[in-house]
Amino acid sequence: MGKSSKDKRDAYYRLAKEQGWRARSAFKLLQLDEEFDLFSNVTRVVDLCAAPGSWSQVLSRVLIKGEKFGRSAWQDHEAKFRQQMLGQFGPPELSGTAETTATRLEAQESQPRKDVKIVSIDLQPISPLPGIVTLRADITHPATVPLLLKALDLDYDQKMKSQQAAHPVDLVLSDGAPDVTGLHDLDIYVQSQLLFAALNLALCVLKPGGKFVAKIFRGRNVDVLYAQLKIFFEEVHVAKPRSSRASSVEAFIVCLNFRPPKGFSASLEEPLGVGFRLSRMTQQNDERLHRAPPTVLQDPETGGWNHAPFCPRTTDEHGITEIEPEEARNRRDEDIRWIAPFIACGDLSAFDSDASYRLPPGHVSLDPVQPPTAPPYKRAIELRKAAGGAYGKTVKC
Ligand SMILES: C[S@@+](CC[C@H](N)C(=O)[O-])C[C@H]1O[C@@H](n2cnc3c(N)ncnc32)[C@H](O)[C@@H]1O
Repeated sequence: MGKSSKDKRDAYYRLAKEQGWRARSAFKLLQLDEEFDLFSNVTRVVDLCAAPGSWSQVLSRVLIKGEKFGRSAWQDHEAKFRQQMLGQFGPPELSGTAETTATRLEAQESQPRKDVKIVSIDLQPISPLPGIVTLRADITHPATVPLLLKALDLDYDQKMKSQQAAHPVDLVLSDGAPDVTGLHDLDIYVQSQLLFAALNLALCVLKPGGKFVAKIFRGRNVDVLYAQLKIFFEEVHVAKPRSSRASSVEAFIVCLNFRPPKGFSASLEEPLGVGFRLSRMTQQNDERLHRAPPTVLQDPETGGWNHAPFCPRTTDEHGITEIEPEEARNRRDEDIRWIAPFIACGDLSAFDSDASYRLPPGHVSLDPVQPPTAPPYKRAIELRKAAGGAYGKTVKC
C-alpha cells in the first residue's frame, strides 16, 4: 500500500505525521486523557513498551514542556468559548472579565511542571526525547524494577529499605504488544502475559492513589482479569479510544486509585499471573464481599424482632452474628467475574479510525516522523536481500 493510500484510509496515520507524532498511538493516549484526566497531579511516570515513543512524546510535551493536549486542551477550549460567548453577548463588565480570563488562560499555556521524572522502557531502542530517560530492557525481567527505580531517583540504592522511596510513581502506562501471529487465541494469551508483567511492575512501583493504564486484547475470560484488577484499584474501566480501530480486539484498562490489600507485598520474584496467588486473592476478596442472605433476628435484650435493620445482620450455624456495613452491601454484586464499565472515548467529532477520508487538495504525503530504529523484521529483510530479493525472484543470472 502506498503512503498516499494509507493517508486516505487511516486519518490518524496522516495526522500523526502532520503533527509530528512518532506513531498514531499518540492519539489513543490523548483521547484516554480527555476522558480520565490522566495527567492531573502527576510528576513521576513510567511508560512501558514505549518504542518508537509517541506516548513518551505526549508525556514530554504535556508534563515537561507544559503544552496543552487532551483533557486540559479541551477544558481550555471550552473556557475560552464560554468567555467569547460572554464577551459577545454578555454585559460590558462581564466581557471585561472575559478578556482578563482569556489573557490569563493564554499566559497559563505551556507552563512546564516542576520536578517531573519520566522513564520509558522498551526492548527496542527509543530515540532520545527531551526530559525523558529511556531504558532498553525487558519488562518481564525482575532486574528491570531496580533499574527503573534508579532511573527515577539516583539515590535509590541508599533508600532501598524505605517503602515510600520504592513506591514513587504516580502513573504507569503500558502499550505493550507482542508481534501478532494472526492466531487469535495465541495472540490474546501472549498479550495477557505482557499485561501481567506490566501489572506486576506497576504494583512494585506505584504510590497509593496511583494510576495504571494498559493495553488489553478483549478475549473470552477478560472479565476475570477485571475482577483481579479490582483487588488493587478502586476504579477499573475499559476504554476504547476513537483512534483505535473498532475492528481490533484492542482496548485499554484504566485503573484509578491504587489501594493494595493490607499485607500485600509485590515482587517480580513471585509475580502475579503465575501459579495460583492471584486467583486465591480474587477468591478471598470474593468471600470477603459475599454474605449469607440476611435473616430476621430477635433482639436478646428487648425481645423485639429486627425486621428492617439499618445494617443487615447475618448469622451462621455457630450463632455468630455479622453486621454488614453499607459499603460492603453496595459491593455485594462483585464476583470472581466482574464486568468493568466500558467507555468509548474521544470527541465524537474526532476522525473515525475505520473510515476512509478524501485527502485535502494539494495534499503531500509525508514520511513517518521516526522510522523504526531496529525493527524485528530488519534481519529478515537483510537475509532476503542476501538471498536475492523478495521470494528469490529478483536473482540476476
Ligand atoms: C505498540 S508498540 C508501543 C507503541 C508506543 N506506545 C508508542 O506510542 O510509540 C508495542 C511495543 O511493545 C514492546 N514490547 C513487547 N514486549 C516487550 C517486553 N517484554 N519488554 C519491553 N517492551 C516490549 C515492543 O518492542 C513494541 O515496541
